[in-house]
Amino acid sequence: MKMKTMYWKDGKLTLLDQTKLPHEVTYVECETYNEVIDAIKTMKVRGAPAIGVSAAFAMALAENAGENLEKAARDVKAARPTAVNLFWAVDRVMAAVKAGVSAMDEAQKMYQEDMETNRAIGRYGSEVIDDGDTILTHCNAGALACVDYGTALGVVRGARDAGKNIKVICDETRPVLQGARLSVFEMQQEKIPVRLIVDGAAGHMMQTGKVDKVVIGADRVAKGGVANKIGSLMVALAAKRFNVPFYVAAPKSTFDYENSIYDIEIEERDPSEVLYVGKCSLAPEGTEVENPAFDVVPSDLITGIITEDGIVGPL
Ligand code: MRU
Repeated sequence: MKMKTMYWKDGKLTLLDQTKLPHEVTYVECETYNEVIDAIKTMKVRGAPAIGVSAAFAMALAENAGENLEKAARDVKAARPTAVNLFWAVDRVMAAVKAGVSAMDEAQKMYQEDMETNRAIGRYGSEVIDDGDTILTHCNAGALACVDYGTALGVVRGARDAGKNIKVICDETRPVLQGARLSVFEMQQEKIPVRLIVDGAAGHMMQTGKVDKVVIGADRVAKGGVANKIGSLMVALAAKRFNVPFYVAAPKSTFDYENSIYDIEIEERDPSEVLYVGKCSLAPEGTEVENPAFDVVPSDLITGIITEDGIVGPL
């Protein structure tokens, strides 16, 4: 059976526990909206579109339990600050409820839409990928970051589905290693040729002509640029220097038309993510850490943004 990032069954939201991948495929069941919030905070479910859809199901759980939806909406929105899909999803569910639609029906609709949206991103993205290309990606903007198919890895799948031979290079993506643990895993499952590099090797790979295109996902597209996983900025700078086209693949639900990208909150995560790999301590005791989870790629470094409606310029 194909692995699923999430599904709704018997009044519960079941989530693939991404903290355990690639070595263990286990699922967690959320019966309350607070359990979904915990899963988002601890990154059992992660990636902007997946966070959005699971937040919508969190609202459905609150509705089923007869909870105060205004309070649930505030609580769910406080789970993580950077991916705008979280706020978009909760606001959309609340608007639907006000219009007489159940939170559950709206969540199910968003679940279906996410799959269709990503396939459309894949089809448009495939047009800028040439047969034989090697695509570098950062973090995981794949099926695991969405309901299915993925955005950046949706472009990879779209090119493969269009009959193109492509290869993928994944940055490992310190400190949570979404590239090594999740993107490599996804590509291996699909039998798409994939190689893993340390984050610091991305510039070298581009300088030595080993990368034809960069495609990454986004947590927020706003005026001035795109916020995505920490390290995206350095990849974009190197791509500009070595004339490698740099694409962002993102659904319209990731667009924030109200804020400047420099005004949004960049999540700061726990120092332990940087200080440890599993139980292995990496630095002297007492080391001070900064652990921003995202950075901003300015608009002038972006070749195009691949959406479900076509390829557009940055805001
Ligand atoms: O901290 P994460 O794992 O939620 O960060 C994920 C990313 O940065 C992805 O690139 C982004 O959400 C796009 S997912 C289609």
